[in-house]
This record gives sequence, C-alpha cells and structure tokens, in this order.
Amino acid sequence: MKKLIVGGIVACAVVALRTSAFAGGILGSPHDFTGETTWNSRAGACSPCHAAHHTDEDQIAPLWVHATDPRTSWEMYDSPTMDATVGTAPSGNSLACLSCHDGALGINATISTPAPASPVIIDAGARIGENGDLHTTHPISFDYDAAAALDMGLELSSYVIGDAKDGLDARHKGMSAEGLVAPVPATWSGTSLTGQTIADALLIGGKMECSSCHDVHKLEGASPSSGILARLSGSDVNGNGSILCRTCHIK
Ligand code: HEC
Ligand code: HEC
Ligand code: HEC
Ligand code: HEC
Repeated sequence: MKKLIVGGIVACAVVALRTSAFAGGILGSPHDFTGETTWNSRAGACSPCHAAHHTDEDQIAPLWVHATDPRTSWEMYDSPTMDATVGTAPSGNSLACLSCHDGALGINATISTPAPASPVIIDAGARIGENGDLHTTHPISFDYDAAAALDMGLELSSYVIGDAKDGLDARHKGMSAEGLVAPVPATWSGTSLTGQTIADALLIGGKMECSSCHDVHKLEGASPSSGILARLSGSDVNGNGSILCRTCHIK
C-alpha cells in the first residue's frame, strides 16, 4: 500500500507528517473513490475532497473542494456532567466530514457543482449527524482546554502519549490527589502516536473534532480497509482494548 500512495508530492508530505508502522493511505480505504468513474472520471484520489485552486472560501478544511453542508440548525451533545462548552454547530473541520456523512449532500457534490444528490452515503451506520442531530455522538467542536479536562479523569492536552497515566490529580473537581490511582497502564502496543502530545496528535487547532478519533487519510493504525479508521487501535500491554478512549480518559 505504501508504494501506491507515494506517487505525488503532496502525498509524500502527508506521509512525512504522519509516520506509521502500518502506513496505508486513501487508496484501498473507504475514502478511495478512484473506482467511481461515472463521476470521478479521472480516478482522482484527492480531488473528491481537495483541489489546488478555487477551493472553499471558508477553507473549512485545507484546500477543501467538496460542497459544504448548508445546514444552519444542529443539535449538539450535552449532558449534566459535561464541563466543556460545546457551541451550537460543528466547526469547519468536522463540518467537512459531515458534508458527506450526514447524508444530505452527494459524495460527488463539489463547490462548483453542489447539486448532485447522488450517490449519498446510504449505509445507515455510516450516517452520522443525520438531520443535524449530533446529540448521540461523542462531543465535538469544543476547546480541549483545562476547563474541559476538569472532567473527572481526563488528561490535559499536554499529556504525552505513552507517558505514565498520572493525570488524575487535584485538578479534578477539587479532589485530593492522594489515593487516586490511574487504572490503566500507559503502554499501548502498536501505536504510531507515542511521544506526541494529545494537542499535536489528536486535536485540530486545540479542538476535539471527528478527526481526533478518525484518520480520514488512513495513515495511522491498522490497514486502510480495516475497521473504522481509528487514529489509535490495538491493545495495551495487558491485551485490553479501547486505547483510543483511554488515551484521553483516565478511566
Ligand atoms: C474523503 C475526503 C478526503 C480525501 C479523499 C482526501 N482528503 Fe485530505 N483531508 C480531508 C479532511 C476532512 C481534512 C481535514 C481533517 C484532517 O486533517 O483530518 C484533510 C486534510 C488534509 C491535509 C492537511 C492536514 C494533514 O493531514 O496534513 C492534507 C495535506 C491533505 N488532506 C492531503 C490529501 C491528499 C494529498 C489526498 C489524496 C491522496 C487527500 N488529502 C485525500 C479529506 C480528504
Ligand atoms: C466525499 C465524501 C466523504 C467525506 C468528505 C468524508 N467521508 Fe467518510 N466515508 C465516505 C463514504 C462514501 C464512506 C463509505 C460509507 C459506507 O460504508 O456506506 C466513508 C466511510 C467512513 C468511515 C468508515 C465507516 C465504515 O464502517 O467503513 C469512517 C470512520 C469515516 N468515513 C469517517 C470520516 C471522517 C472522520 C471524515 C472527515 C475527517 C470523513 N469520513 C469525510 C464519504 C466521505
Ligand atoms: C471520541 C472518538 C470519536 C469521535 C469524536 C468521532 N468518532 Fe466516529 N467512531 C468512533 C468509534 C469508536 C467508532 C466505532 C463504532 C462505534 O463506537 O459506534 C466510530 C464509528 C464511526 C463511523 C462508522 C459507523 C458504522 O457503523 O459504520 C463513521 C462513519 C464515523 N464514526 C464518523 C464520524 C464523524 C463524521 C464524526 C464527527 C461528526 C465522528 N465519527 C466522531 C469514534 C469517534
Ligand atoms: C482526544 C481526546 C479524547 C478521546 C480520544 C476520547 N474522548 Fe471522550 N471526551 C474528551 C473530552 C475532552 C470530553 C469532554 C469532557 C467534559 O468536558 O466534561 C469528552 C467527553 C466524553 C464523554 C461525555 C462526558 C460527559 O460528562 O457527558 C464520554 C462518555 C466520553 N467522552 C467517552 C469517550 C469514549 C467511549 C471514547 C472512545 C471511543 C472517547 N471518549 C474518546 C476527550 C476524548
């Protein structure tokens, strides 16, 4: 797979930015639309989402050329125990994902041809935020700041992935650090993000977004065609999973 994706200068840059033991890439992943030759006649790997010129005025994602969901009303996640302040709409980076995944726009809709209503994502499971409803999805589009990390048992965004999970401290709702014992080992096997901070590896401009958990280009984690494009997958030294969640949450 690695060979297949290093064909272009930009692709090389992406590979250099995100090194991985299991480098994959768009080709062969669920975001490989090169076979959709009825609407992707030049079999572009990047062009369904990016172009070099005449891209989105708002640059909701870098050099974004897909049409953007014009929806103005969203229902965001909330709960009585949430400490972070979630806004009333997803920020650009997640909106880019939702412009296909909420099922309202065609996969082939572009800023110059926004009309095509088909093909849309038909698989019900892959429809996230349908009708603008994000209240059943993990909170997104908020600053992962010290206030958000006040939640009982969250690492600060400066936590270095792979370091001891000692983030349970007096920050947490005024509790005494004494007697608080992190329940998980810090060592995740097979992760490419060890040594990077949560801020660098998982946040987009300091915010939690869809891309905090998913790697749309599939350069991280397991092979391109497997699973849900998780940024972190595998297990800890004891063979237990959910390492994506447990990187941020000390639970
Ligand atoms: C299905 C849509 C999609 C396709 C196809 C796609 N991208 Fe992206 N790309 C995104 C989104 C969304 C973002 C912003 C979110 C993120 O970085 O995860 C992004 C971000 C980027 C970035 C900036 C952030 C970073 O990762 O460095 C670069 C560079 C990039 N893409 C290059 C490419 C290239 C080159 C290709 C083709 C080989 C490609 N992309 C294919 C959706 C796509
Ligand atoms: C150009 C349209 C488009 C954009 C933009 C897009 N996706 Fe997708 N995505 C798809 C399609 C189509 C599939 C395959 C859907 C299916 O299985 O029905 C898919 C599949 C996925 C899957 C795997 C689902 C599975 O079980 O196979 C994940 C996870 C995913 N996308 C996340 C994202 C995230 C996160 C972003 C933004 C960073 C994003 N996508 C941007 C079109 C898009
Ligand atoms: C906190 C991490 C996290 C965030 C944030 C997140 N996801 Fe996911 N996503 C997951 C996990 C884990 C799964 C695996 C299935 C599950 O738990 O429902 C998944 C599954 C998916 C799937 C596949 C569902 C299926 O059944 O085929 C898609 C598509 C997807 N996510 C897109 C998105 C989009 C779009 C966003 C932003 C609006 C997003 N995700 C935000 C962690 C996340
Ligand atoms: C990039 C870091 C990060 C990752 C990865 C992550 N979370 Fe979160 N999660 C957060 C933050 C920050 C909050 C907001 C907490 C707050 O402010 O109360 C949150 C909120 C939550 C909440 C809601 C808390 C509440 O009080 O309503 C739950 C439940 C949750 N996460 C579970 C998960 C699960 C399960 C996974 C793995 C699929 C996951 N998280 C992955 C950072 C993360």
